Amino acid sequence: MLTGGGDCPGLNAVIRAVTRRLHANGWDVVGIREGWRGLVEGNLEPLGPREITGILPRGGTIIGTSRTNPFKLDGGVDRVLETLEREAIDALVAIGGEDTLGVASRLHAEHDVRVVGVPKTIDNDLSGTDYTFGFDTAVFIATEAIDRLHTTAESHNRVMVVEVMGRHTGWIAVMSGIAGGADVIVIPEHPISVDECCDEIRRRHETGKDFSIVVVSEGYELEGLGQEGDVDQFGHVRLSERGVGAELARRIEETTGYETRTTVLGHVQRGGTPTPRDRVLATRYGLEAADLVLAQSWGRMAALHGDSVVDVSLAEATRELKTVPPEWYDVARAFFG
Ligand code: F6P
Repeated sequence: MLTGGGDCPGLNAVIRAVTRRLHANGWDVVGIREGWRGLVEGNLEPLGPREITGILPRGGTIIGTSRTNPFKLDGGVDRVLETLEREAIDALVAIGGEDTLGVASRLHAEHDVRVVGVPKTIDNDLSGTDYTFGFDTAVFIATEAIDRLHTTAESHNRVMVVEVMGRHTGWIAVMSGIAGGADVIVIPEHPISVDECCDEIRRRHETGKDFSIVVVSEGYELEGLGQEGDVDQFGHVRLSERGVGAELARRIEETTGYETRTTVLGHVQRGGTPTPRDRVLATRYGLEAADLVLAQSWGRMAALHGDSVVDVSLAEATRELKTVPPEWYDVARAFFG
């Protein structure tokens, strides 16, 4: 089993569930250290009842993670295949988002690797599943932050801009913005201009409210703000470095004259204990992944459809990002201004 990409609340709950179910069926389980890097470098450790004791509520991942992409390393894929062969690994459980599962899908399609996937990401941008685990916790943390920022906004008559994660989708922004009662929500999928954003704030202030909360997703493409910066092995720039929240706040203050401040939530959204909902979802996903291994259903991923945990094709799930549909943005928009 390996965990790849950004750490995420609920990873340990999956590790526990997979280990428990496979152990109960007579399997030996090993943790591969730090995602795909562990398979490239042959860094494995046993996972048994002792290792998984007490990990259900713990954030992060006890087996480590990385953004290593074996397809981008010289001889990387060969080394992955060698490790699988040398260590006599019968099945691989890959827990990750579009990057990690994209590698899993290619290894299955191109090299017949016996792999199943579990959908993890706070961004909730993976197709094939209604929800990824970790998302609920991130939304909970962001909502709590918005609640707290209301205090300063109200006391100082300020506009508070809150920058949340989500990469190129606005799921965290929309859900935490709705839950926290944001006055404007700005996301990549349905981009409103700075002028439209300022109009909403002015409209609100004209009705006697003299503070506003604006939630902006880190991936929102603000005119004039570049996309340059360091790129990881999956080709992603570090969006936090663009400073979209700070720049949006500067332009709001300049355009409206209202005093404006920015808060960037950053990795706080990924830290700490998972919500009960994420613990339960991660546990169900873990059991499903183990069952897929027992059934030898390779190239499949555990997924949530409605209230049921099902399995879908890894290739389908990683084909395109799941973006926020207009219906969800309409819910958010109903409370703008
Ligand atoms: O994919 C999860 C995520 O937290 C994104 O929301 C964010 O853009 C990215 O990871 C940050 O990555 P890193 O932890 O490498 O800075």
